Amino acid sequence: MESSWHPASWRARSAAQLPVYADAEALAAVERELAGYPPLVFAGEARNLKQQLAEVAAGRAVLLQGGDCAEAFADFQADKIRDTLRVLLQMAVVLTYGSGLPVVKVGRMAGQFAKPRSEPTERQGEVELPSYKGDIVNGLAFDARLRAPAPKRQLKAYAQAAATLNLLRAFTEGGYASLERVHTWNLGFCERSSQGQRYQAFADQITDALAFMKACGVSHVSTPAIQRTTFHTSHEALLLGFEEALTRIDSTSGQWYATSAHMLWVGDRTRQVDGAHVEFCRGVANPLGLKAGPTLEPDELLRLLDILNPTNEPGRLTVIGRFGADLVESKLSRLVRAVESEGRTVVWACDPMHGNTMKTGSGYKTRPFERVLTEVRRFFDVHQAEGTHAGGVHIEMTGEDVTECTGGAQAITDEGLADRYHTHCDPRLNAQQSLELAFLIAESLRADRAQLREAS
Ligand code: PEP
Ligand code: CO
Repeated sequence: MESSWHPASWRARSAAQLPVYADAEALAAVERELAGYPPLVFAGEARNLKQQLAEVAAGRAVLLQGGDCAEAFADFQADKIRDTLRVLLQMAVVLTYGSGLPVVKVGRMAGQFAKPRSEPTERQGEVELPSYKGDIVNGLAFDARLRAPAPKRQLKAYAQAAATLNLLRAFTEGGYASLERVHTWNLGFCERSSQGQRYQAFADQITDALAFMKACGVSHVSTPAIQRTTFHTSHEALLLGFEEALTRIDSTSGQWYATSAHMLWVGDRTRQVDGAHVEFCRGVANPLGLKAGPTLEPDELLRLLDILNPTNEPGRLTVIGRFGADLVESKLSRLVRAVESEGRTVVWACDPMHGNTMKTGSGYKTRPFERVLTEVRRFFDVHQAEGTHAGGVHIEMTGEDVTECTGGAQAITDEGLADRYHTHCDPRLNAQQSLELAFLIAESLRADRAQLREAS
């Protein structure tokens, strides 16, 4: 099987979730055009992320992966990109300071445009149209013209991803992410909240620590890492024609790399062992994620590990569990035991979003924040019981003050969801809820480390 891989070998497999384009020639023309465009990321950067993830697998670092459920063409604004980034930076500071471990920051950004959907079509009254599958495929409005998959959207997604990545690079390398600016990351509406104040206290301690270090001769001049941070990008490898067009051979290693993002993941609905998505992903050398829902059996996971990471390379594969608060304990423990007993190395991450989605009486899709927190707590408990490392989290969040998930310190109610429900797809944590989650994870990580110290 291995020798026959090439960027188009997925085309011979059955593919779940791919849109049906009416005009195959127009689609092929767009894919040819994309194939001539510059790569968005470089292989060396993807390798660097893989090394960082290997540190997570070994328990020496923590993964924070987050961003929009679905990026939207209409939300393409510098302020929104900056606000999501700064909440991720705030979360990373809380995690680093709380755990004493470096945090590997990966955005669901600059390319998260394609969505798998439970139903291929959506019905409203007598009218049935294709489901919305993300702005790279079709439009959100329930209108036959907009819902028809349009190939040219892929060119727009490429351009938006390139510009978003450019801004992220400027922010993270150009001084915005400097630890000397920890106070300025506190957003206006967050600053006055209980989580904002808790963060402020953290920021004060960091500023004191930096002043102390500076007095000892350690500053951004001697240690540039104080002023910059490394930030990587990721998205679901769903639209395979787009991914294939951006897959290139790296001249340094001679290996194939997907250049649409540093990390790609396989969704819970497209992880069939013999399916097109797994086939595509096995051949690119990027770090990969694999979403694991309640139906993933341990032997199936082991087969997927054989295909996606046959050499058991640390950092290559992150298993992103999304079981829901009720199932995480039983389902995750089985997977952890199977992987451990085979001596396989993975990063274990927790996506506490996708297993905890529900509809309210008024029809909003939401996620009770309490259940999100409960799934994360139980994820830590399982790893503590199994003696494995809880590697990190994968979340859907935004820097905006939205009301999409109920609960949290703001106590957003079912009725309150209508105030600022802006998501194009799944409900996201807002800035305050994201920070609250970061504080919880920092506490769990600290407890894990204390336990490890005691044991050694
Ligand atoms: C997602 O991450 O947006 C998603 C659809 O997740 P899953 O594949 O786990 O359902
Ligand atoms: Co989602």
